[in-house]
Amino acid sequence: MPKKIIAGNWKMNATSDEVIAALKPLDSSIDPNKAEVILCVPYVALESVKAKLAGTKIKVSAQNMHYEEKGAYTGEVSGEMLKGIGINHTLIGHSERRQYYGETDETVNQKVLKALKLDITPILCVGESLEQRKKEITNEVLRQQVNHALFNVCEQNMTRIVIAYEPIWAIGTGVVATPCQAEDACKYIREVVTAKYGADVSSKVTILYGGSVDDKNAKELFAQPNIDGGLVGGASLKPTFADVAKAGLPK
Ligand code: PGA
Repeated sequence: MPKKIIAGNWKMNATSDEVIAALKPLDSSIDPNKAEVILCVPYVALESVKAKLAGTKIKVSAQNMHYEEKGAYTGEVSGEMLKGIGINHTLIGHSERRQYYGETDETVNQKVLKALKLDITPILCVGESLEQRKKEITNEVLRQQVNHALFNVCEQNMTRIVIAYEPIWAIGTGVVATPCQAEDACKYIREVVTAKYGADVSSKVTILYGGSVDDKNAKELFAQPNIDGGLVGGASLKPTFADVAKAGLPK
């Protein structure tokens, strides 16, 4: 069984003490062998949010990292730097980074490999645009993104990667994929992983859905057989994120 994961992506938004306070009571229902609740926060908030969550099982993640250790990369942060402050998770290849910051399948692959090397869990984001969905090439796009990102990833490391399916048309739009659309895409992603690594490995990989998830639609989405939780943007900035997380935790 893949681990259930509910991750909040705060993007470029300030720390919400209300969200942190709302999440804390969930701590006792988190079995770390079965589930994780993670907050992906801006770099500058990593340490303070981690301190605020000290003593709980709730994890703190970065939203990106560079694949080089150090050097002339103005504005960037390396995996080594994240490790240095005790951060063990990062988003990689979020569509906003692909769209606005020139992130490519190649850089995504380099980052995934580097994260694994440093024992940082990569939460690899993939997803098609509305245009691609309309052209009915969703599966092709997902297959290419997943296979590129996993190039040179060995079988043993594959189960350490989390994949988040985030259709671009559903991100921040309020237009959530139907449970059926989300399940079809996540199932297909699992098939792509199966083709490369076999069914035993793919059955252990956590695959998340992201895109306009909120406390109202989470339960039905997370009940789908190939959806192991969610990556939640806007709704993770509100205290009701605790209800989204609750919907994803194993009963
Ligand atoms: P959203 O964002 O929940 O606001 O649609 C999801 C994401 O970008 O991770």
